[in-house]
Amino acid sequence: MAKEKDTAMVMETWDNYHPIYMECILKDRPDFLEFFANGGVEEDFEFSLLGDVRGLTLLDTCCACDARQAFTWTNLGAKVTACDISPVAIAIASENAKTIGLDLEFVVADARTLDPIPDDCYDIVYATYLSWYEDIEQACRTWHRVLKPGGRLLYTGGFPVTVSRNYYDRSPNYYLFDATPAGRKYGVNVNIPTVNFHHTLSDLVNAIAKSGLRIDQMVESGLKSDASPYSIPEDLAIIATKPIG
Ligand SMILES: C[S@@+](CC[C@H](N)C(=O)[O-])C[C@H]1O[C@@H](n2cnc3c(N)ncnc32)[C@H](O)[C@@H]1O
Repeated sequence: MAKEKDTAMVMETWDNYHPIYMECILKDRPDFLEFFANGGVEEDFEFSLLGDVRGLTLLDTCCACDARQAFTWTNLGAKVTACDISPVAIAIASENAKTIGLDLEFVVADARTLDPIPDDCYDIVYATYLSWYEDIEQACRTWHRVLKPGGRLLYTGGFPVTVSRNYYDRSPNYYLFDATPAGRKYGVNVNIPTVNFHHTLSDLVNAIAKSGLRIDQMVESGLKSDASPYSIPEDLAIIATKPIG
């Protein structure tokens, strides 16, 4: 019951925030749509980790309204299905894709279950933003389900650290969502009650391994500038394969 309430709360947060979010992204990057229309590719470290993705089927689990990662994978040549739990995100992202002239599919789906998505049909699952849901074991089982045998999971996210709470404290963190960095830059504060979940590094590695996916590689990237006195990476990626047979 608490889980359903938490999911409803997260959906409401994002359904309310996405229109404002998109406005702020376009203020921040006025050439955003033109960039992708001209074949633009974001520079984030994860886009070089899988080699040539041309012709491969790729599912993005949390595309958001900007869908910048889904557009990047498309411009890199992958055949992309972009999912998000928020119907508002999917409506905005599909409209943007039409404006840009990019050919990708959009589906409203919860990353943990991907209900509308059939089994064994993706070469790549690109998974991000696990902090918005609690049950990452369920999510990893789902990603195993939708991958073709031999297909790869690419997980990327911030290095799992906690601010002002114990690293091992997995209890839901209820708080008032103000904005994303793009929104904060323009003084947005939506003040919506929401919830986040902390997953430790071992939670993540064990959830992937337990799902039957074989972990091939872990990559650390960047350096957190505000983590004094410790020096720790900014981002993390894990690549895992669905074994054949
Ligand atoms: C921070 S945004 C992603 C932002 C963006 N693509 C970027 O990195 O610039 C996180 C997204 O996760 C989505 N989300 C939250 N819970 C989800 C779930 N259970 N399944 C799928 N999407 C979810 C939200 O609707 C939101 O669009």
